[in-house]
Parts: sequence; C-alpha cells; structure tokens
Amino acid sequence: MFYAPVALRPKKRSKPEEASFSRHEEPKFQDVRIFLVERKMGHSRRSFLTQLARSKGFIVEDVLSDTVTHVVSEDSQSSSLWAWLKGCSLSDLSTVNVLNISWFTDSMREGRPVPVQTKHLIQEILPETPKPAPVNKVSQYACQRRTTTENYNRIFTDAFEVLAVNYELNEIEGRCLAFRRAASVLKSLPWAVKCVGATQDLPCLGEHTKAVMKEILQYGRSFEVEKILSDERCQTLKLFTSVFGVGPKTAEKWYRRGFRSFSGVLSEPSIQLNRMQQSGFLHYGDISRAVSKAEAQAVGNIIDEAVHVITPNAILALTGGFRRGKEIGHDVDFILTTPELGREESLLISVIDHLKKQGLLLFSDHQASTFDISKLPSHRFEAMDHFAKCFLILRLEGSKVEGGLQRAEGDSRDWKAVRVDLVSPPVDRYAYTLLGWTGSRMFERDLRRFARLERQMLLDNHALYDKTKKEFLTATTEKDIFDHLGLEYIEPWQRNA
Ligand code: UTP
Ligand code: MN
Repeated sequence: MFYAPVALRPKKRSKPEEASFSRHEEPKFQDVRIFLVERKMGHSRRSFLTQLARSKGFIVEDVLSDTVTHVVSEDSQSSSLWAWLKGCSLSDLSTVNVLNISWFTDSMREGRPVPVQTKHLIQEILPETPKPAPVNKVSQYACQRRTTTENYNRIFTDAFEVLAVNYELNEIEGRCLAFRRAASVLKSLPWAVKCVGATQDLPCLGEHTKAVMKEILQYGRSFEVEKILSDERCQTLKLFTSVFGVGPKTAEKWYRRGFRSFSGVLSEPSIQLNRMQQSGFLHYGDISRAVSKAEAQAVGNIIDEAVHVITPNAILALTGGFRRGKEIGHDVDFILTTPELGREESLLISVIDHLKKQGLLLFSDHQASTFDISKLPSHRFEAMDHFAKCFLILRLEGSKVEGGLQRAEGDSRDWKAVRVDLVSPPVDRYAYTLLGWTGSRMFERDLRRFARLERQMLLDNHALYDKTKKEFLTATTEKDIFDHLGLEYIEPWQRNA
C-alpha cells in the first residue's frame, strides 16, 4: 500500500541531505500541521522534505489523522488521491487542505506557510452528472413527434424526396430510408432551418443529408438532385411508375427494352397491359392529378350513400391522407365494416355492385380476405395487410363537388376519374386498421419500429402482440393502441410524418 500512513521509523543517518538540517528547531507554526503523501513522492524524498520542513519550524505529521490541516501530494491523479483520502476515515475531509507540492515549495522558500491559493489545490474531480435531457428533444421515432401538414422546411424535404425516390428506384434501400427519415424529422419542426448548425441536436440527419442541406442553403439548389432530375433513366422510371398498375419491375423492363414514353409503350403490339394498367393509361390525365379535399368529400358522400342503402348499421370511416387533414391526395381511402362479425366481406362486394349499377365504377380490383387469425402474430410487417379490399376508379360528377372539379386547362368534361381504396376488416380489427391506414407511411413504420425495439411488441394492421407476456392486446380505439404502447396519443392531423 503506497498510501498507508508511514509510522515513525529510525532515520537513516547515512543520507547526506538529512544531515545538513538542524533537527531541533522548535515548531513555529502551531496551527499548520502537514502530512506528506508518500505515493509518487517516494520514501526518501518524503523523508528529505519532512526534515527540511521541520528544520524551518513546520510541524510535519508522520501519520494522517484528524490533527492534519494540510495534505501535500505529488500525485497528479486527483481521482486516486481523493479515493484514498476518503478511505482514511477522517472525521471531516472538507476542512483539510489537499495541496500539490507547489504550496510546500512556496512555503519553504518563504520560510512560513503561504496562504492557500487555487493554484495549490488538488481538486476532487466529481463524476460527471448526466446532463438532463433537453426539454424539447426531437425523438428519433416519428410516432413521438407531432407533424402537421405545415412544412417549414420544404426546400429540403422536396430535395430529400427526389433523392429517396432515386435510391428506391435503384434499390438502395438504406439511403432511401435515410433521406425519408431526415425529411420526416424536418417536417416535424415548427421552424425553418436557416443554417446546418441549427440541426445539431436533431436525430436522423447524417453526413450526406447535411451536405445536401448545406448546398441548398448556400446555392439554393442541390447538385445531386439536379443530376437526378436530368437523368433519363430515373425520369423514365418515374414516369412509368406514375401509371396506376405499373410497379418498379415493369417500369424497369420497359426502360430496358428501350421505351422512353407512353406512346412508345402503347404502340408496341408485343406489350400486353393488364386490366389495371389499361385503366391506368385510359384515365391517366385524371388520376395523375391530385384529388382535392372537396372531391374527396364528394366521393365520401357517394360511398356513404351506397353503404347505407345496403345496411344502415355499417361503419364507414375516411382514412389515409385526407383523415390527416391533407388538402390534396393521390386517392381517397376508406375503411368499411359492420358490427356483425364476418359480414364485412359480403358488405364490400355489395357496395361495389351498387356502385357498378349506378354507372359510377370505371375500374374495380377486388381482393378477397386472406386474414387468418391463427397465423398471427406475423413477423413480416409489409405495408399490405390481409383484409378484404378493393382498388377502384370512380366516376365523379362535377355537380357533386362543392366548388366544382379541379380540372386541367382546356378540359371541359363535367366528370373526373378518381382513385378510391376501400378496406374491410372484421370489426374487432377496426382500431388497428384505422391506425394502419391513416398513415403516414413514415408514422406507421416508426410505430412498428418503436413497438418492436422499445416495447418488445409486434404491431401491424391486424393486431398488437406483447412478446413478453405472450398475448394479444385488444383495442377498440386508436387511443387504446397508443396506451398499450405507452405513447402519448397523436391526433391524425399530427401524423403527417
Ligand atoms: P396511401 O398510399 O393512400 O397514402 O396509403 P396517403 O397517406 O393517403 O397519401 P396520398 O395522399 O393518398 O398519396 C394510406 C395508408 O394506408 C396504408 C399505407 O401504409 C398508408 O399509411 N396502407 C395502404 C396499408 O396499410 N395497406 C395497404 O394495403 C395499402
Ligand atoms: Mn391515400
């Protein structure tokens, strides 16, 4: 033990320096009692300094006790010194001066104990107390952020969307997701980012995203984005996938075959379009244009009428982007169910039939339910769920729309083709479906990620499963699901992540 107080021991008279001090000086400074710590100093230097001090009338204690007023150490490691001092069971360590050797040498030079100054102190380094979390820290999970349709950072998020789509088309999923996450964080801010430094406490913004932001702030544009916008392949794939029924695989196939325009594809006899694609091209002008809120409202009225002709106690709810308060959408999404468990699927078919008889149905793709409760929980959380659903194109008369149709210039038709999705879950799955179809996609993705990583739960459009308790959690409202997840309730209009 280096630190152990050293008891008096016989002096080694052989040391020349010891011999040079007169050792019978009477103590002059009664209220200063020094203790020299042997560690780092070494035994012989300690003896030397002890004799030196005594020769000048200082009291030097051989043992550390409560009478000591000044502890002097040559140890620069304050933590180990303090740890040892605390273990010495002194009654009040706070009254002891813990000093480095400079106080001792200054005092020897002056021939008296010099007043203790800050430069003499060996201060205790306290373990760093964890910083309290900043009050408004932005969560890395979109489901813990409130994101309205108001976007103060559109100059960045529009650029990120171009980049995300580009990476998606090139199947570089990690980068695609990184840009979507970054865009989602920026959308949640109630302020505009004016310099990259302002983003330092924000999650999900990596080097690449920050570099793009820097360029936009500096030059008003991103060169990477401009390159993509002028890239033929990317623009062609975007054009082809904008057709209802054309996915990335088909788009890529057409591009590889040398097609660059719709007319090229449509005039090629060997290309067989499926029913969905045929309708997609037929109504392209209409369905590639945004649906307005008033148009969505009018579609809601039509479906509501059709549903209630069939059964008065059906439950119909607007979902998707319009439920989140968006002004425009690419389609209109509804959930349809009935309190009679098991009746929902035939209800959906009846509604489609009714619309058809009214001459309102331009296209319908009905998908029967593949929902099997015994196959839950599913560990695959794809966007598609197993409920009965249909993808429709409806004919919407202008007269039914408050304020009229949003029409392209020079279009004098009094109707418009509108994309409508209906999903029909069993009523006991209603809350999960409503939460899942309300979106946004980023919000859903992070709800599931949060459930899995933070709660050991599995969430999808069908159910919530607690892996720890090994049980399904029931919910009749969206709020129940947020409660199960221990999340603050986020209103639909705050889910535009
Ligand atoms: P949309 O693609 O309609 O998105 O899907 P949106 O938010 O309404 O945006 P726009 O305005 O139409 O472009 C709505 C939600 O339904 C979910 C999607 O994940 C999205 O969150 N959804 C869609 C499913 O859960 N399953 C599906 O089969 C289809
Ligand atoms: Mn939608």
